[in-house]
Amino acid sequence: MKKASVILDKAYCIGKVDPRIYGSFIEHLGRAVYGGIYEPGHPLADEKGFRKDVMDMVMKLGVPVIRYPGGNFVSGFNWEDSVGPVEMRPHRLDLAWYTTETNEVGMHEFADWAKRCGSEVMYAINLGTRGPEQARDIVEYANHPGGSKFSDMRIKNGRKEPLDIRLWCLGNEMDGPWQMGHKTALEYGRMANEAAKLMKWVDPSIELVACGSSSSEMPTFGDWEYTVLNEAYDNIDYLSLHRYYANPTNDTPGFLARSMDLDEFIRTVVATCDAVKGKKHSKKTINLSFDEWNVWYHSNEQDKEIWKRDKWGRALPLLEDVYNFEDALLAGSILITFLHNADRVKIACLAQLVNVIAPIMTRNGGGCWAQTIYWPFLHASRYGRGVSLNAIVDTPVYDCADYDNVPYIDAAAVMNPEDESVTVFCVNKDMSEDFELEIDLRSFEKADSGANLRLAEHIMLHHDDVKAVNTEQASDTVTPCAGPGGSITGGKACIRIPALSWNVLRFC
Ligand code: AHR
Repeated sequence: MKKASVILDKAYCIGKVDPRIYGSFIEHLGRAVYGGIYEPGHPLADEKGFRKDVMDMVMKLGVPVIRYPGGNFVSGFNWEDSVGPVEMRPHRLDLAWYTTETNEVGMHEFADWAKRCGSEVMYAINLGTRGPEQARDIVEYANHPGGSKFSDMRIKNGRKEPLDIRLWCLGNEMDGPWQMGHKTALEYGRMANEAAKLMKWVDPSIELVACGSSSSEMPTFGDWEYTVLNEAYDNIDYLSLHRYYANPTNDTPGFLARSMDLDEFIRTVVATCDAVKGKKHSKKTINLSFDEWNVWYHSNEQDKEIWKRDKWGRALPLLEDVYNFEDALLAGSILITFLHNADRVKIACLAQLVNVIAPIMTRNGGGCWAQTIYWPFLHASRYGRGVSLNAIVDTPVYDCADYDNVPYIDAAAVMNPEDESVTVFCVNKDMSEDFELEIDLRSFEKADSGANLRLAEHIMLHHDDVKAVNTEQASDTVTPCAGPGGSITGGKACIRIPALSWNVLRFC
């Protein structure tokens, strides 16, 4: 058995974990909305047409914030189409996903649904085909109490109290040529700044996220961030990052190493934010909103076939990636990476939530079930709140095609400051060997009372087949179970971490 160690000290904190790092995303895309969260006529739909079984699964995940309504969709979207009497709302061609959008679910319906799920809406505005004027109008519609054109329109549409949307995205992936209204960094930076000014003049209490690069692989990455920040620094609060990973060559060790790429991406964007801060002699710090992350590649070929057959259909089954066990391991390592960067990553959205590259799948008229990636997300969201500790990990490493010195063991620790309980999240990336993991918890020992931490629970996700998936018929193929646990002596825990596994070690 290989050996690794983690040293924790309750005084060495990275920062408070912002619960919004356990956010997610629902776009008007595929069956995310229609056939996902909303399916009137389904036996489990409520009186408004929203599926209660899906809502239950969303609530179990504990998602504090949900980004909406896009994504690429938003860059051609007119928000006015999505309010007012449903029968008056237009059907529109969505040029992002070659679909027809019926606008049956709009701003009010989504806000009500999110509230019932215990989530806040993170609303993305269209800065592709539209600009500062519509950005101003929508904040007036959503947040102004009344007595103006758009706030009165909201009241007439049945909503006296403001929707009170606190968090707004200034467009989506504006660096990408696939985007409607794609812009250069300077064009976007100037427009984002002007939109931000107007939005904050309407409601100074809102927070704004400007678009960073749509991936660290974009040729403009770096320059884009610097230019956008240079233009909009004073009026924005967060800069966005997006990243999707894939394993097209069936190289599991190389795929699991991608969390190193993520960490590098975050550090580079933090450095750029701080460089602009320095240049501007500013006292304000821009933090990060990692508002799209996931694995995405399984459904690519299938989507091409769907568009060949049914371009402009409604609620096409697009981007329905079926996630396997190795995807869950990478999702776990990504969540660990966010905890390592808790001082700067304040928002993160698993893209997406239902059916579209999602942890939750549904069948029209049928059941709903958890994909493999549901589990590490649920565990991190449930147990990863509090203060992220600076976990010093000593582990053997491996080399793969793109990276040298990849740690076999990824680990992060979160302390609940109220009772000093600690949860350690850990991924073993070794394909064949278990690890004996020593966790130094001596700083948590209470010499006076002798009330020391004990291992209350070891939750584990493992499957012998990295390609194992969950389906409606076999929804528990990859599901959490009790891990082998271990012992604690002299303030040091010794835990067995099986080969290729995601682990949650709860010390109380
Ligand atoms: O999440 C799917 C798509 O990925 C989003 O619409 C877009 O922002 C990104 O390219």
